[in-house]
Amino acid sequence: MDDYKIRVFHEGAVDFYAYGPDPELYAEIREEYTPSKTPVFYNPVMKLNRDIAVYAIRAFQHITKRSLRICEPLTGCGVRGIRLAMEANGVDNIIINDIIPEAYETAKKNVELHNLQGRIQVYNEDANLLLTENAFPKKRFDVIDIDPFGSPVPFLDSALRAVRKNDGLLCLTATDMAPLCGVHVNACIRKYGGVPLRTMYCHEIAVRLLISCSVLTAAKREIALIPLLSHSTDHYIRTYLKTSPGAKNADESVKQVGYLIHCPHCNFRQLKPGIASSLNNMCPFCGGNTKIAGPLWCGKIQSREFVNQTLENAEIDGDRKAIKLLGLILEEADAPATYYDLHSLCDQLNLPCPALDKIIHILRTNGYIVTQTHFKNNSIKTNAHVSEILTIIRKAQ
Ligand SMILES: C[S@@+](CC[C@H](N)C(=O)[O-])C[C@H]1O[C@@H](n2cnc3c(N)ncnc32)[C@H](O)[C@@H]1O
Ligand SMILES: [Zn+2]
Repeated sequence: MDDYKIRVFHEGAVDFYAYGPDPELYAEIREEYTPSKTPVFYNPVMKLNRDIAVYAIRAFQHITKRSLRICEPLTGCGVRGIRLAMEANGVDNIIINDIIPEAYETAKKNVELHNLQGRIQVYNEDANLLLTENAFPKKRFDVIDIDPFGSPVPFLDSALRAVRKNDGLLCLTATDMAPLCGVHVNACIRKYGGVPLRTMYCHEIAVRLLISCSVLTAAKREIALIPLLSHSTDHYIRTYLKTSPGAKNADESVKQVGYLIHCPHCNFRQLKPGIASSLNNMCPFCGGNTKIAGPLWCGKIQSREFVNQTLENAEIDGDRKAIKLLGLILEEADAPATYYDLHSLCDQLNLPCPALDKIIHILRTNGYIVTQTHFKNNSIKTNAHVSEILTIIRKAQ
């Protein structure tokens, strides 16, 4: 298709070559444009994902105060690696790689376009092979960014061998939302080793499944993972995980893997950390049969300090979309797990949906913690019991 020829694009602070639709036509053909069908992958929709990566890696560099060696083993046209070299700070060296020769050639062309040959090396290998070749002391990467088609799981084990054990950063994107959100349950169990659930908060469950799968993979190598920043945007989820070495630390992180009990009848939910937890299949609130998701991550999925630092970097660049997203994430950083979609609750009650602000105000006045969430519009995170939320919705009519 003529719309998919190589041309110069612009994103963040860089120009680069990629195959894709004419940017002028993009708004019109967006629906039918399939980035994975182009000779070399470039998806303009993932710009926000790359923007946040730039701000997060700047934050990571600021916190660790080290110069960074980064690997992006699934690079497509190379835009992410080139943006990190040009827009993040203290990045000494980046290895970018793609198995497809046309992608390798395009990424090389982009490195030359910016005269970055001294800082970026381009490879044309299988990602797992490349990572394994770097899985040695002093060779390991400070940051590895896995941004695949679908699930990052096939690359997790080799990424955990190739990332620094102490204060390394693993950045993971997953776009296989049908398995992670419970449409293809068996695919999720197969890939992530956990049961998903189709609920109003399935995107948070998806993040928790990806984190627990990563934590358990890391634990085999006596590495703990600490979530710094996680988000669900468009058709994907993304998480940034910091490494910490040692069997004891790994044991502590594994203790935060457990289950989610969800009652489909009354919307009660409860996290139960611990892989060997005993689980009651009767809802303690309404007595109905509960559903179980997991094993999944029951701990925090954000670090307030890291999100704040990342947000500051977005503010420096005046990036309104990223500021809005990171601002919401900061607000919910310490909020209770899972969220309530007011539209879904009201549908179940067969009532019109009151204004979100009104419900938030009443809950706060009643002394509850309540925040909005980046996961979904018109949704709240709160420590109020679901029965309390339902009472307030009824009263607010
Ligand atoms: C989603 S695209 C990468 C997009 C890129 N990270 C970005 O931000 O624009 C995934 C890429 O992984 C490459 N790929 C798939 N399997 C691979 C493998 N086993 N080793 C190396 N590259 C692979 C594909 O050719 C494709 O270009
Ligand atoms: Zn119940």
